[in-house]
Amino acid sequence: MKLWGGRFTKETDQLVHNFNESLSFDQKFYRQDIRGSIAHVKMLAKQGILSEEDRDCVIKGLEGILEDLDSKKLTVSADSGYEDIHSFVEGTLTERIGEAGKRLHTGRSRNDQVALDMKLYTRDEIDEIDGLVKALLEELLVIMEANTETFMPGFTHLQKAQPITLAHHMGAYFEMFLRDRSRLADIRKRMNYCPLGSGALAGTTYPLDRTYTAELLGFDGPTLNSMDSVSDRDYLIELLSALSTISMHLSRFCEEIIIWNTNEYRFVEIDDSYSTGSSIMPQKKNPDIAELIRGKCGRVYGALVSLLTTMKGIPLAYNKDMQEDKELTFDAIDTVKGCLALFTGMISTMTFRRDVMEASAKNGFTNATDAADYLVNHGVPFRDAHGIVGQLVLLCIQKGIALDDLSLEEYQKISPVFEEDIYEAISMKTCVEKRMTIGAPGPDMMRKVIETYRKLLKK
Ligand code: ARG
Repeated sequence: MKLWGGRFTKETDQLVHNFNESLSFDQKFYRQDIRGSIAHVKMLAKQGILSEEDRDCVIKGLEGILEDLDSKKLTVSADSGYEDIHSFVEGTLTERIGEAGKRLHTGRSRNDQVALDMKLYTRDEIDEIDGLVKALLEELLVIMEANTETFMPGFTHLQKAQPITLAHHMGAYFEMFLRDRSRLADIRKRMNYCPLGSGALAGTTYPLDRTYTAELLGFDGPTLNSMDSVSDRDYLIELLSALSTISMHLSRFCEEIIIWNTNEYRFVEIDDSYSTGSSIMPQKKNPDIAELIRGKCGRVYGALVSLLTTMKGIPLAYNKDMQEDKELTFDAIDTVKGCLALFTGMISTMTFRRDVMEASAKNGFTNATDAADYLVNHGVPFRDAHGIVGQLVLLCIQKGIALDDLSLEEYQKISPVFEEDIYEAISMKTCVEKRMTIGAPGPDMMRKVIETYRKLLKK
């Protein structure tokens, strides 16, 4: 069962085994472990370190184990007595093919093996997460394309500020998730060097062809320092940081959806299939999924802070503390994948109440800046214009009406500069349409930006 024991005179205490083992969670990367071993023996044989006969025998054995684990014919049980997935695979292999199985670990340590497995696993997961973010971006784009002229209030301090469109608001999140994808791509690129062949810490005395192994496993090359290779967990910290940022973006978005879904706002309605009820209040329809996604953000941050803290006191090279990286990373990856999938489902089934959004934009003086700009365009200095419109807003508040509802006499009483065309100048349509600089909500600009996004997603 054990890969060691020769120098020991006593059995491991059961509690020690339980505390030390990682099989209960590192079985998650059995596929990557086997894939790495196959590449390793191919390289060993190419270098004449292992006979071709043994190589074929080991590869066949490993492929059999992979098949049986995939089909659940073989299961990994935590009480099998094996310490980790590496021992499990090697032990099962030797059980199945005999002597040749014992040659698999030539020129390898579990330190470089686990470093490889974790990298292979992470790389696969990065690709999956990237796919999920891409699917979310595609959904956002669908919403944006349909809503370049859906007016709504834009907020600062959660107070109505200026009119925007739903497409523009969604576009802000599009940008965030686009950056998330680029962060994932950066990490993937930086981590893509193969640690296998670094041995326990100081390389090996066998003439390993590390470049060949790296190539077989789809890396850009071998890592160049064997001590760093077995003790580098930077890429996991970077990934947890990127996952934390994705979670933060999702959480902000969920917060808005929760607010928009309230009776007070009614900007959106979350679909019944993505809502839950109350055991006591029959009228309730709660945004649990949005709340859970917002809540899970804390857990992902926790993983990042945990791993940063675990790594901060570790001397070179490998130390067992590093085993703690696994559960944290697995949990954060699974959590974010779940959140992304659920979130995309939630927004693709959600109803946007365009009429309510537009009415809300009209009611909150979101066109006040445009009224001031009107005066500026007629020669009034901006600071004076600001004061004049402030007085008009006060009058409206007293009367309980919008700027659009004041009579021309009322306008002119405060400033004679106003003419009949003020109504046109502060209409929602004008306010938004005139915002046509790059990045602004004007529908023409927005459509151009959407076109650029479409092209980006095709890549
Ligand atoms: N389970 C260990 C880990 O996750 C594998 C490496 C063990 N190496 C060792 N020298 N004990 O880090």
